[in-house]
Amino acid sequence: SLGEVFGGSKAHSGYTYDDIIVLPGEIDFGVESVTLESKVTRKISLRTPFVSSPMDTVTEATMAIGMAQHGGLGIIHYNMPIEDQVAEVRKVKTYKNGFISDPVVLAPHNTLSDLDAVKEKYGHYGIPVTIDGRLHSKLVGIVTKRDVDFQEDRSVLVDSVMTKDVVTIQEPVTLAQANARLADCKKGKLPVVNADGELVSLISRTDLRKARDYPLSTVAASGSLLCGAAVGTRPNDRIRLAALVEAGVDVVVLDSSQGDSCFQKDMVRWIKSTYPLLQVIGGNVVTRQQAKHLIDAGVDGLRVGMGVGSICTTQVVCACGRPQASAVYAVASYANSRGVPVIADGGVGNTGHIIKALMLGASCVMMGSMLAGTDEAPGEYFFQDGVRLKRYRGMGSLEAMSQGSDKRYFASQAKVKVAQGVSGTVPDKGPLATYIPYLRQGIAHGFQDMGVRDLDEMTSRAASGAIRVELRSPAAQKEGGVHGLHNYVLRTHA
Ligand code: XMP
Repeated sequence: SLGEVFGGSKAHSGYTYDDIIVLPGEIDFGVESVTLESKVTRKISLRTPFVSSPMDTVTEATMAIGMAQHGGLGIIHYNMPIEDQVAEVRKVKTYKNGFISDPVVLAPHNTLSDLDAVKEKYGHYGIPVTIDGRLHSKLVGIVTKRDVDFQEDRSVLVDSVMTKDVVTIQEPVTLAQANARLADCKKGKLPVVNADGELVSLISRTDLRKARDYPLSTVAASGSLLCGAAVGTRPNDRIRLAALVEAGVDVVVLDSSQGDSCFQKDMVRWIKSTYPLLQVIGGNVVTRQQAKHLIDAGVDGLRVGMGVGSICTTQVVCACGRPQASAVYAVASYANSRGVPVIADGGVGNTGHIIKALMLGASCVMMGSMLAGTDEAPGEYFFQDGVRLKRYRGMGSLEAMSQGSDKRYFASQAKVKVAQGVSGTVPDKGPLATYIPYLRQGIAHGFQDMGVRDLDEMTSRAASGAIRVELRSPAAQKEGGVHGLHNYVLRTHA
């Protein structure tokens, strides 16, 4: 049983995901019967038990939107000024599937060279024109490819070429209504305006063709996508938090590498008394004692992991931390008994690790490196030695700390900055639209092998000892991976 392997409170050895292997159970259902619904906080459920890390190379609005559309949750990082983080949260909260909520806008006094620059950067024409070139201002025209095709002189003003008689649609409008209007008017772009004729969003014919349903979406009662954001635990983080709440954030993560601090407990109590409806995730913790302190303070969820992330050097630098399987098991067995879900944060490198985290009692996993190479992660792809890559860096790397993330490591006042993370690259993972379904399907196969249809069944079987786990020797771990080949091609999904 799990208790025998992890040794309860008398444990002297720590184990991580690769140290253990799960023995198969009996299958009496098809893989399509598996569901992955789980909780991320006391009050928030997810259909996909994945959370994206609040890191500046992982989660901004685009990632948070994609995660929520696929049933997970994104936590917007806070290595940026308050107003920028608020803007990212707003983008998620106001996002409407199929609607472009932050279109590029021009002003009548812009020139055709400005238009060329937009085309060069974003690859399309069909730019709405407002009185002052801003969104939420009066719409005065639209400039399309046909308006400018035969214009040799690029110093001509947009005002003199744009189409002033614009076909628009007024809010409130559903995607289906917009679709019908686009089909009707045969235009490429349809600006959405409010009752005062101000530009609110844009609908594009090409996007509409791509628009699809997201049946797993994580949505609030209002219909908006759920959004998380991270903040620190210093007194001035209360100002940041208030602004995020104003923008509609649903869940806040108190971001610290060592969560059992007076700063975090004070912050939790303050949030709970000031914003009783806001869900608060505390952490990070790796022991029951730390978990008890934060649960007593009032957290709704706990983030577990210290020094196990792919970019972390905390265990090397500070000697503190815990192998992740032991940490998840120890904290989850206690926190779950108090009704607080656990997020296994860091060290996830494959679907097997996710299944093991859930089997050990985690309600979901938080991932950094797994998601950093997707299209939705911040930053551009680039090639190195023929491989398409994106940058990924620890929030404790010197590069990230120089932008403010040193607060996570209680180091913002320190004269000497000590790195607790590194900066590197990860390979291209493609869009979340293909990557998340692959991860979900891999996990479903694992559940089926274990003979469990869902997380409840997994938890009760693990607790009763019906799910059996063994430790693996180093040779067994080697045997469990690809071995004995001269070379091979790793393709993970099709
Ligand atoms: P993965 O393994 O998913 O880990 O890439 C992501 C998690 O790692 C933590 N994190 C850090 N830990 N130094 C650390 O010790 C760092 O620089 C650092 N940056 C991120 C964080 O918990 C994240 O979710």
